[in-house]
Amino acid sequence: MTTASIGRPLPRVDGRLKVTGAATYAAEADVPGLAYAVQVVSTIAHGRIAALDASEAEAAPGVLAVLTHLNAPTLPYLEHWSLIDPAVGERLHVLQDDRVRFNGQPVVVVVAETVEQAEHAATLVRVSYAEEPADLDLPARLDQAITPEAGLPAGSSHLADYQRGDPDGALAAADARVDHEYWIARENHNPMEPHATVARWDGERLTLWDKNQWVTNARDEIAAVFGMPADNVQVISPFIGGAFGTTLRTWPHVTLAALAARQVGRPVKLVLSRRQMFAGTGCRAETWQRVALGATRDGRLTSIVHEATAETSTYEQHTESTLSATRFLHASPNVRTGYRLVPLHVHTPNHMRAPGEASGVFALECALDELAHEIGLDPVELRLRNEPEQDDEWGLPFSSRSTRECYRVGAERFGWSARHPRPRSMRDGHWLIGWGMATATYPTLRAPASARARLLADGSAVVEAAASDMGPGTYTSLTQVASEALGLPPERVRVVIGDSRLPTTPVHGGSMTMASVGSAVQAACLEARARLLEFTAEPNESYQRILARAGVDAIEAEATSGPGDQGARFSMHAFGAVFAEVAVDANLGQTRVRRLVGAYGAGRIVNPTLARSQAIGGMVGGIGMALMEHTVIDRQNGHVLSANLAEYLVPVNADIQQLDAIFVEETDPHVNPLGVKGLGEISLVGVAPAIANAVFHATGQRIRTLPITPDMLLPTAWSTT
Ligand code: MOS
Repeated sequence: MTTASIGRPLPRVDGRLKVTGAATYAAEADVPGLAYAVQVVSTIAHGRIAALDASEAEAAPGVLAVLTHLNAPTLPYLEHWSLIDPAVGERLHVLQDDRVRFNGQPVVVVVAETVEQAEHAATLVRVSYAEEPADLDLPARLDQAITPEAGLPAGSSHLADYQRGDPDGALAAADARVDHEYWIARENHNPMEPHATVARWDGERLTLWDKNQWVTNARDEIAAVFGMPADNVQVISPFIGGAFGTTLRTWPHVTLAALAARQVGRPVKLVLSRRQMFAGTGCRAETWQRVALGATRDGRLTSIVHEATAETSTYEQHTESTLSATRFLHASPNVRTGYRLVPLHVHTPNHMRAPGEASGVFALECALDELAHEIGLDPVELRLRNEPEQDDEWGLPFSSRSTRECYRVGAERFGWSARHPRPRSMRDGHWLIGWGMATATYPTLRAPASARARLLADGSAVVEAAASDMGPGTYTSLTQVASEALGLPPERVRVVIGDSRLPTTPVHGGSMTMASVGSAVQAACLEARARLLEFTAEPNESYQRILARAGVDAIEAEATSGPGDQGARFSMHAFGAVFAEVAVDANLGQTRVRRLVGAYGAGRIVNPTLARSQAIGGMVGGIGMALMEHTVIDRQNGHVLSANLAEYLVPVNADIQQLDAIFVEETDPHVNPLGVKGLGEISLVGVAPAIANAVFHATGQRIRTLPITPDMLLPTAWSTT
């Protein structure tokens, strides 16, 4: 009765539902009697609402209510904090006062019979503002950066200033030195599916169909906002059309949908426009960085100084692990990191696609490439010479670390040994060809999770956990874990997730779902199986027969699984190496990524097909970060100028050529019972620096600003090396 399910390339169990349109997303919730809500948002970045006239909107056809700060009920907004909320500050309290904190802040919600009527009426609301000076310019405000306040949750030491040895002294004394500044543009998540909430009240009970990566947190937060017991709120989110972090937090529109529904006494649907998703549902923070490296002549790092300053809002301090990897990724006796924030009149940034690591590793790995060039050493060889024996920040061994193997197999697959070190040494007609590489890493996180397994009379099983699946294939991989633990074929297992009434799970983010929920599912299944076997002395009997003979309908087990003390004994991360080939048009400056090879040591691979899908998805995100994605804001008024997919560019099929993901063999007995490290985010880390380094190799032009756009590479901008 054993089925080796883990490790098999099982097709997505929900694939048919998705391609046939049978999978229902938040905005598609089939709730009778719906009314439609549309937000009106602020057009200034800072100030207050001076006057508001909703009379014309209220008189428009089909309008049921126009909610503003003047007539909205006061909401309790009881204290609520979760791991994905900033440690310092307070979430936006929507429609509770006349203050405007950012351009795009919801200031009015219009509810009508149809979405068209609501949209029309929204255009009739007259809002005038008393504008106050707005700080919107990170480059101009770097000198006003602040140290993030204390009060950090345990384990967030990555935010504190860090130093080991004498980094500045070692830098000054180094044989070779690079010291440069790097910029990363603000980016927005831009999943295909917009944010959407359907809210329905049944007396004191509230049901929310919501696009959300953490249904139990959304339940608790909305309960706190309305001052009601969490048991009275249910959040349902069975399918998510991509999220990349934008639905980690529960944004104000969820509150507005619930408020509107209560106000009009009907279920209400609220869907954000693409433009609204650019101002108010998080973003990757615009970030300045400085990396200074010192090394011996033979390429041993003697000093690393890494500083970062990022934008945040005036009402919350969003912080990221931008500098964490710098302290352990490469060996150096002297290291200093310092993280700063500049509060601006913008909405609070949040986590997006490998938050922190994606930004910090970009600057670090570009700097390493600059150092390699400076001392005339191959970039892979430079990294090999600085491979640490342990995590030097904590003095802990790595639970597993396959960087050497990743460099080796990645370089081999890529054909790296044929690289000529001189920039501008390869051409293909009018295309300048360049090869670059970078190291990647992302922490292996895990949080306590619960799951329930039920063995049914027909011999099949149902596995339940709150969880979510934003696209990585959680339904499928959990099916495989349950299948293996129960010894049932995968088609006999049904996974039910995306509902806050199911056993509690952590946020569907930080690449920790398999480590956390997967471990809980495994534990629940093993427990259910053990209980069943109590009914029989014959281990080869089918579940169906055991249950029938025992005269029970079902066996149920719930289990909670969480990390032990391994975090105190090991430094736990996934590692990888990314190799890129770019072609830069010598006349037009356009960059094409011809090939990416990513080699990853990410622990056990539950499903090679899904793993590859995740890896190449991450690479596509990395190409976007490197070459395209840029949220442009008007520094005068905070208006997002690129708030649509025509002006905010993301890679499309025509931008993608050869993507190759390799998972090296890695057995890690320490990280979690499944031995998985998570894949969602590491596959994006390292891509942008590998591309930037390849652009340098192609052109001789070092671009330290993302995205790298054609104007930066026009022939007139070149200096020949
Ligand atoms: Mo991810 S940015 O933790 O959804």
